Amino acid sequence: MAASWGSAPGMTTAHAHSLRRRVVVTGAGGYLGSVLVPKLLAAGHYVTAVDTFYFGRQTLEESEDHPRLRVVVQDVRNLSSDVARGIDTAICLAALSNDPAGDIDESWTESINVDATVHFARIAKEAGARAFLFASSCSVYGASDERSLREDAEVRPLTAYARSKVAAERAVAAESGPGFTTVSLRMGTLFGISPRMRYDLMVNAMTASAVLHKKVGVDGDGQQRLPLLHVADAADAYVRLVTDAERLPKTSAVYNLVSVNASVRDVAEEVVAAVPEADLATTAKGLDARDYAADPSALGRDTGIAPHRKPADGIREIRDSAVARRLTPEEVENASTVRTLLEQAKRPAAHGGEPVRRDFLPLAKADIGPEEEAEVLDTLRSGWLTTGPKTARFESMVAEYVGSRHAIATNSCTGALHVALAAIGVTTGDEVITTPISWPSTANVIWHLGARPVFVDVEPATLNIDATLIERAITPRTKVIMPVHMAGQACDMEAIESIAARHGLAVVEDAAHAIGATHRGTRIGSRGNPTAFSFYPTKNMTTAEGGMLVLDDDELARTARMLTLHGISSDAWKRNSATGSPHWQLHLPGFKYNMTDVQAALGLHQLPKLDAYIDRRQHLCALYSAGLSGLERLTPLETVRPDDRHARHLFIVALAEGTPETERDRLLDHLRSEGIGTGVHFRGMHLQPFYRDSLPHAYRDLPVATSLSQRILSLPLFPTMNDRDVEDVLDALRKTEA
Ligand SMILES: Cc1ncc(COP(=O)(O)O)c(C=O)c1O
Repeated sequence: MAASWGSAPGMTTAHAHSLRRRVVVTGAGGYLGSVLVPKLLAAGHYVTAVDTFYFGRQTLEESEDHPRLRVVVQDVRNLSSDVARGIDTAICLAALSNDPAGDIDESWTESINVDATVHFARIAKEAGARAFLFASSCSVYGASDERSLREDAEVRPLTAYARSKVAAERAVAAESGPGFTTVSLRMGTLFGISPRMRYDLMVNAMTASAVLHKKVGVDGDGQQRLPLLHVADAADAYVRLVTDAERLPKTSAVYNLVSVNASVRDVAEEVVAAVPEADLATTAKGLDARDYAADPSALGRDTGIAPHRKPADGIREIRDSAVARRLTPEEVENASTVRTLLEQAKRPAAHGGEPVRRDFLPLAKADIGPEEEAEVLDTLRSGWLTTGPKTARFESMVAEYVGSRHAIATNSCTGALHVALAAIGVTTGDEVITTPISWPSTANVIWHLGARPVFVDVEPATLNIDATLIERAITPRTKVIMPVHMAGQACDMEAIESIAARHGLAVVEDAAHAIGATHRGTRIGSRGNPTAFSFYPTKNMTTAEGGMLVLDDDELARTARMLTLHGISSDAWKRNSATGSPHWQLHLPGFKYNMTDVQAALGLHQLPKLDAYIDRRQHLCALYSAGLSGLERLTPLETVRPDDRHARHLFIVALAEGTPETERDRLLDHLRSEGIGTGVHFRGMHLQPFYRDSLPHAYRDLPVATSLSQRILSLPLFPTMNDRDVEDVLDALRKTEA
């Protein structure tokens, strides 16, 4: 483990100055970093000091103008490779430390203590650094009865912090290789004065308490031992390893870096000896499970590094400084790492706080399993890629699932809607009544046929077309009513169909969001009306891109099917099969909207999972709703009609009426900076430049759609999301209310 590089007799200052190394230190503004940086400068080195300076920039104040110091304010998780250009040695101190801080949020701890450490090691290696010195901790040993643990002892980390150090040590060692040495220094619990003072370290805490409260608390019998190290000794050791780099081992090494091992009671007694007016008090609270002593001899033997400052030295320093500076309880409290980090976690990321998510949570994500992969591969290997047997099978499955006579697979829901209207005969001068709250497809396909979309306002609770307003929008030119089942919630189909029947109109359902939804006990798609589903990747099930038109009318189905493929009478599979005929006839000027077998291969395995997906979405929505009940600003739009099954494609929330659009957009920005994806479903078509300019008169009377367009947003929702993800979204929203 501890490769020998021979003993190094004390270096002279003159010798050190002749070896001006280029060093990058992360965590340079921290408790150890702010002691180390001035020492590295004093030893003649060039120092790039990297830190976020959560705890204030003043920690490096004394060195700030030093000609050999460069300060880089950066989060180590986004460390740019520039910082390492031309360096000899990298010193990785940046960490969430120590044990209690590491337990605040394990993924936060891991992202800084492990992921960022490995990232730094790789940057350093690529930049040609020769050595990487990693600040580890004796807390990796956890609890042990052994008298004095050597580096090859078993590690038994008891906390997230200690686990992160074990993981980082291993990952760092894995980066070592010829010309790139990695050394992990398992330091004892630090003590002593630093420009970035910490009073949550045992020796420091006891001394501050003795001075301020005349009391030193010892948990239990105080017999737990722990290794200790003066912060200045720690810094000296790093300086020595930087200066003496050619003596580093050739590969990787792990060393204990400790001055003494002491029991908690020993330390408390030393504090009382130094602050005689303080009493020693035994407490039973929060007994620390850590109990270990570490053997520092390997480092001494290999390098000559021998920390010499004793706890009593630190106790005296802290006592004298506390008295001289009139230390206050507030100052002690303010120096608490845990407190600062908790504040950091609560502060919006846009204002420099810690984002709720370190890995971005998207609005939607497809779930593709091995079944889909195998089926796609099978299709690719079959040699038949476009519309063929798999598409036909998928069509039958969908028809059976929704309960329709026909199902025609298309390359998108947009294509399915276009074909449905064209098959009905919608043409120049016609009007189609629809909702402004939809994706552009709904209005665009009407426009493409030379007809006009007539927008009718929506219900505030569902964003679905308000059936009570449809009748007054009907004119002699009206041909079709095209409702959209928003977010997967059925429109009031009885009302819509009875209006259509009274006026001799067709109904086309835009069910892009609604496969799997039911209305009064029957599935959307089963009512006989041409109904279009979308299998776009964000939808409840996907074929990458794709759609399906379902309907009951045989003649209309025949026309629609032809229209999906140029308007010709026979598809390519039929023409090319052994019994097929190469002849075909063009009956209509159609489109090229057919689905491929590669897409259908996905659908064949997505459809059987659909109901479970919707159940999962339902569960996530329930968590959102429960969590949102504690938030004042946002209300979910989720009034579910009795007897209906909401397909839960989207979880839409609205800000209060009258909230300006800029505030909603600020909330979208805030969520993005917290690592949360969002969407707006939808900003009304009547507000979009094209329809606003093309149809300027007809769209003034849409107050609900206009108001909701400005204050709705959709939160992440997809079946592989877990409960914790929902909690993250709620946490991000809570930050805005704080
Ligand atoms: C309501 C609505 N209609 C139609 C579509 C078009 O679907 P596709 O992308 O499959 O063409 C979408 C797509 O998001 C939609 O949300």
